[in-house]
Amino acid sequence: MTFAVGADAYDRFMGRYSVPLAPQLADFASVAAGQRVLDVGCGPGALTAELVARLGPAGVSAVDPSEPFVAATRERHPGVGVQRAAAEQLPFEDRAFDAALAQLVVHFMTDPVAGLREMARVTRERGVVAACVWDHAGGTGPLSLFWEAARELDPEAEDESKLAGSGEGHLTQLFEAAGLREVEEAALSVSVAHSSFEDWWEPYTLGVGPAGGYTAGLNATEQAELRERCRDLLPTAPFVLTSRAWAARGLA
Ligand SMILES: C[S@@+](CC[C@H](N)C(=O)[O-])C[C@H]1O[C@@H](n2cnc3c(N)ncnc32)[C@H](O)[C@@H]1O
Repeated sequence: MTFAVGADAYDRFMGRYSVPLAPQLADFASVAAGQRVLDVGCGPGALTAELVARLGPAGVSAVDPSEPFVAATRERHPGVGVQRAAAEQLPFEDRAFDAALAQLVVHFMTDPVAGLREMARVTRERGVVAACVWDHAGGTGPLSLFWEAARELDPEAEDESKLAGSGEGHLTQLFEAAGLREVEEAALSVSVAHSSFEDWWEPYTLGVGPAGGYTAGLNATEQAELRERCRDLLPTAPFVLTSRAWAARGLA
């Protein structure tokens, strides 16, 4: 997976959408002062920052398998316990947290049900497990226009629409398969302003995630064709992109 990239590249590519998503996921999970909360797949710390603002650093722990992201989250959030680990094998005792959250991570887990089961294991009884994934399957995620253009030019391009949890109801199925109770699903939405086409496009060339990896694998001519197809499909700049994510929560 292409998350062995610098935190700055991630911030420019995905952080611009995941930072405004974080307060919505925290609200959906009812994160409030006094709790201890785990951020699973923290990346360089978009959700971590929101949790620290609500709980203070001592109330927050975070894990991610990407070494540069672990280093960035440690540096950005002193006092937060940040460890290198995957959701499927969490380095915590049973019931260590009041809640466990995963923002934009379930679709990258090797085994999403095992990852969610681990999140439930480390959450106290009737504590909240919550996660969200962009609506890649429904075509309203922030990367959907990019993948639409890529598939027009290359019908074999593997977009993210088949990834776990990226369609309406998929997260609910995964949560129930992981044994979570009283599962509820909702749509979250973020609107992000882009001042120019270049502001939108340039982060796709930084190699972040599946879309960045796909772009990096194209030759210069193919990349220029893709860029121009995206330009045709987007509104004239400046424009605002509104993106939807599916979120689910359940009780451990
Ligand atoms: C799209 S980023 C989301 C980062 C952050 N939560 C945010 O909202 O900006 C996906 C993250 O999932 C992490 N990841 C990939 N596989 C994982 C796994 N099996 N368990 C936990 N995290 C994983 C990646 O390293 C990456 O940091």
